[in-house]
Amino acid sequence: MYPAAPLLVPHESSEECTVGGYHVPRGTIVLVNAWGIHNDPKIWEEPGKFKPERFQSLEEERKYGIMLLPFGVWRRGCPGEGFAMRIVGLALGSLIQCFEWKRIGKEMVDMSEGGGITMPKAQPLLAMCRPRSTMLNFLSQF
Ligand code: HEM
Repeated sequence: MYPAAPLLVPHESSEECTVGGYHVPRGTIVLVNAWGIHNDPKIWEEPGKFKPERFQSLEEERKYGIMLLPFGVWRRGCPGEGFAMRIVGLALGSLIQCFEWKRIGKEMVDMSEGGGITMPKAQPLLAMCRPRSTMLNFLSQF
């Protein structure tokens, strides 16, 4: 829902081609709107809803495959994808395992998007955290 690079990076067509019925001459700068693809209700049922089950079955993976492209795809896709997928999971897992988290008030976290080439949050994330008691010894070593 919030790709870090909503327009990927600019690409240039090496050959004349047709994309979605549009004629693209050789040497055209092409911007891929990954955000638009990720949030398109013609592709995803309720694109704005958190539904991790949509990625659980092989059938779903085949159906959507290339429609999920936060790292771009193929030859110019992000070479750090495998590394990033592991690190993001580990970092998030560590934050959840080591700390208790709370919102600063009753309001839900404001997820609206700000403007820019990367996708900053319109409102900075503010949250309270405290180390879980079982983690105090471990964390105090750093
Ligand atoms: C969550 C983390 C990351 C995200 C969301 C991300 C996303 C992207 C995206 C969208 C592109 C452009 C792909 C395209 O236009 O088709 C890209 C390119 C690239 N990424 Fe990442 N990336 C991440 C982490 C990393 C890491 C960890 C590395 C290196 C260790 C890396 C290295 C690169 C490089 C070198 C390119 C340029 C590839 C080229 O132009 O041929 N990225 N990344």
